[in-house]
Amino acid sequence: MTTAPAPQPRPPTAEWTGAAVDYDSWFDKRWGHHALAVESAAVLRAAGAVADRRVLDAGCGTGRFSAPLVIGDATVVGVDPDHDMLAMARYRLPAGCARAVVEHLPFPADSFDLTVAVTVLEVVTDPALAVAELARVTGDGGRIVIGALNPHSPWGLANRRRLRAGVWCHARFLSPGALRTLGAPHGESAVHGALYAPGAFPGLTAVGPLLECAGRLAPRWGAFQVLIIDKHPHR
Ligand SMILES: C[S@@+](CC[C@H](N)C(=O)[O-])C[C@H]1O[C@@H](n2cnc3c(N)ncnc32)[C@H](O)[C@@H]1O
Repeated sequence: MTTAPAPQPRPPTAEWTGAAVDYDSWFDKRWGHHALAVESAAVLRAAGAVADRRVLDAGCGTGRFSAPLVIGDATVVGVDPDHDMLAMARYRLPAGCARAVVEHLPFPADSFDLTVAVTVLEVVTDPALAVAELARVTGDGGRIVIGALNPHSPWGLANRRRLRAGVWCHARFLSPGALRTLGAPHGESAVHGALYAPGAFPGLTAVGPLLECAGRLAPRWGAFQVLIIDKHPHR
């Protein structure tokens, strides 16, 4: 089932202009709103129990995916190298944000129970190093959840142009197989699909949830892929 995302604190966007504001405001458009609801729900499902956990959202952007993880006593920290993205994320993350890249996280080993990175592996130069670093800061028995876009989905094919511009201009998209390969050295890995609508259309609110149910029969058509890695204990 797709549920509407909980209302999020709204950064005062009048204070900024530019790429971070453009990126953030996309989630307020009809398709962005639907995508955020479906993708956030997929991330939360993959995350499992979050309350009381120490959570890292690496490459948190403006905090759109971090905020729904603030459940109960969970401590959710966001990191991102982009100053403007972080400034907006601070409004959504009471526990705090830090400026950092996912390949070199400023935390000791085993600092988190859950680490999340949504549409970040696409923009880093070395995805394997990024996943290894997420695994380093994730404690034994912890979980790593990675969200990634699928350009071969109906939505991806319909948005080929958009996926070559803006934040995606240097992106490299990863197939489900490539995601599984990235996860394998660090634990039990599985890839799930979500977001089966090809884009906004009249009736999306009513039909979207049905598409999410039907889409589970063909997960590789999901525009959003979720890699779950249940981390091996240290050997
Ligand atoms: C497509 S946005 C995703 C943001 C957020 N996770 C979301 O889904 O809304 C990619 C983000 O990755 C950040 N980023 C770029 N290079 C990074 C790196 N090496 N380590 C961590 N984050 C990075 C960008 O600043 C941007 O905020």
